[in-house]
Amino acid sequence: MKIKNLFISAAVALTALTACQSSGSGDAEMDKFIDDLMGQMTLHEKIGQLNLPVTGEIVTGQAKSSDVAEKIKNGEVGGLFNLKGVERIRDVQRVAVEESRLHIPLIFGMDVVHGYETVFPIPLALSCSWDMAAIEKSAEIAACEASADGICWTFSPMVDICRDQRWGRVSEGSGEDPFLGAAIARAMVKGYQGENLQDSTTIMACVKHFALYGAPEAGRDYNTVDMSRVSMFNGYFEPYKAAVEAGVGSVMSSFNVVDGVPATGNKWLMTDLLRDLWGFDGFVVTDYTAIAEMIDHGMGDLQEVSALALKAGTDMDMVADGFIGTLEKSLEEGKITEEDINKACRRILEAKYKLGLFADPYKYCNVERAKNEIFTPENRAIARDIAAETFVLLKNEGNILPLKRKGRIALIGPLADTQANMPGTWSVAAVADRYKSLLKGFQDAVGNNAEILYAKGSNLCYDETLEANATMFGREMRDKRSAEAMRAEALQVAMRADVIVFAGGESSEFSGECSSRAYLELPDAQLDLLKALKKTGKPIVMLNFAGRGTVMNWENENIPAILQVWFGGSEAADAICDVVFGDKSPSGKLTTSFPKAVGQLPLYYNHLNTGRPAEKWFSKFRSNYLDVDNDPLYPFGYGLSYTTFTYGELALDATTMDQNGKITASVTVTNSGKYDATEVVQLYIRDLVGSISRPVKELKGFERISLKAGESRNVQFEITPELLKFYNAELKHVCEPGEFQVMVGGDSKNVQTATFTLN
Ligand code: BGC
Repeated sequence: MKIKNLFISAAVALTALTACQSSGSGDAEMDKFIDDLMGQMTLHEKIGQLNLPVTGEIVTGQAKSSDVAEKIKNGEVGGLFNLKGVERIRDVQRVAVEESRLHIPLIFGMDVVHGYETVFPIPLALSCSWDMAAIEKSAEIAACEASADGICWTFSPMVDICRDQRWGRVSEGSGEDPFLGAAIARAMVKGYQGENLQDSTTIMACVKHFALYGAPEAGRDYNTVDMSRVSMFNGYFEPYKAAVEAGVGSVMSSFNVVDGVPATGNKWLMTDLLRDLWGFDGFVVTDYTAIAEMIDHGMGDLQEVSALALKAGTDMDMVADGFIGTLEKSLEEGKITEEDINKACRRILEAKYKLGLFADPYKYCNVERAKNEIFTPENRAIARDIAAETFVLLKNEGNILPLKRKGRIALIGPLADTQANMPGTWSVAAVADRYKSLLKGFQDAVGNNAEILYAKGSNLCYDETLEANATMFGREMRDKRSAEAMRAEALQVAMRADVIVFAGGESSEFSGECSSRAYLELPDAQLDLLKALKKTGKPIVMLNFAGRGTVMNWENENIPAILQVWFGGSEAADAICDVVFGDKSPSGKLTTSFPKAVGQLPLYYNHLNTGRPAEKWFSKFRSNYLDVDNDPLYPFGYGLSYTTFTYGELALDATTMDQNGKITASVTVTNSGKYDATEVVQLYIRDLVGSISRPVKELKGFERISLKAGESRNVQFEITPELLKFYNAELKHVCEPGEFQVMVGGDSKNVQTATFTLN
């Protein structure tokens, strides 16, 4: 490869080294290469590497600049993102490696958040599979497809713990539990990065949004986060840390403040914790315009906040033009040092080196791969299987589900016939017109055995403006007919059917970024439609599309069967049919507590006890509400199956444990119903007495087991002191002697309990 030789020899030939010499990454060859390269770079070119400008395609936040090609030639760009298409990426890379002075390749990023063109379920849904192998596989396929199309860096996994369904980005994470979140973070990093980033089918991951982005006050996106250190360490940090331990190549800063300082300019977070304590050795990129947003946070002007970010340990500026625009001046004025710039530049060059971009800048630009490895039948088949694992059966009175492929089935609702809403939020690379609508899925699933009737029945909601805001990015779907006309048509269709399947809930952009909601019920027009359908007296199955937990009190009382289908990705329609028609039994379990009322939020299972716990509702002078009890409508870990699982007695093999000992908890689980199915057996532990107040229970283990009808299996969990550790008031990771409760069950509420003592 000509370019490679030209480039590497130019870099290696130089021996004069400057003050930017490496402190030693452990890879002598890489250090030498980068020392040599940095020796040739001007200050302006070094700062150029820290710049991740907008491509001109997607513009949000405080984005300004464009004319990217010129900047690339001038060595003022380190990478680009969300540019799609192998040919276009190759063209842009060519400008960097042929027309810029030092031929330094660009890094191409993208929000490959839950798949590429083969789209997997949204992350919240994926987490409900509790299937680490499947989640890893989804990331591996996403990496393979993205890398075939020119992308070598993904802004995923998103691991922000969230306890508040108002926040629209609950859809992008793995729910409320740090133990599960950490396991998923590990699986995703492994899936994207594989064993070796040199492999051209793997890509660099970027764990985000560091940190605590999932805990904004009032669930309003970008809002203030205010939290104790003990809560950060015990409830929120584990998944980020797990990603770092799994070798994640990059970290994205979050928009919010942490301890009053925006994450992007927070030295405690980006250096003391991330690098010094956790040993992170990759690079930190800001979130979109996050440096400029520090001006509105009240941290100073663009020059000041840029210097603050760099000194805090942030390496790459996404879109704000803060680094490229002001760092030289700050250096002249002594606000930063050249060493600060060198450090950041080196980290970005190291990432490019690790990805193999210096050896071959076109490594990810293989047109043949792009033709053959994207949206393949194999990838789609896997996506379909995985999607089916993510649906959660919330209710199934009278075993209405699964449906038989016979008679007349009325498919009604605003999400029944849309392709654009199948992939879900943050599916940048999706090609929605290649995906099936649910209606098409139903027709294919029943063939000639049943008749599928269809009516849209209602718009998403009555308010046109709200609907427009919730269907951005080419997903408009508003029907111009009156609500009455649409409902009348639906009722006529319903009257002719044996069973009604309602397909409604949220559109894709009703959750996701900047999609916080203050009302969490099914949108008004749809609830009215559902109530009208109920009056027909026909059996109803509700398929609830959503990127969060919906408040469904009326539905829970009145609709016999509810299947939470989230956004299942490109294969969602077929996957939903697999479950609805009983080819597969649902096995998803909630990873986020569904509230009964917005007023209960934040709501999460692993809360502390109060000094006045409410044993029953309502109790005066206990911790409860006058107008709703404290329980979620559907708890963490909950999800039904077409079969039933019976749990035998929970047994511990000892009642005391030494500091270096272990205890085994075991339980026999029997598939006592008629369907072969999968159960997620969950282990929770409560530390009854501690130096700080400890949660009423915490997930500490889980196992997915598939059992044939009638089959039993003994499931064992090993409990070690390591599993009992928490961060105490001094933020030391300790386990304290005393009594512990062990709880095992099929969800966080229905558990059997045993106790042991740690000596
Ligand atoms: C989001 C990030 C995303 C970035 C780049 C931001 O608005 O918060 O999650 O990775 O844009 O698209």
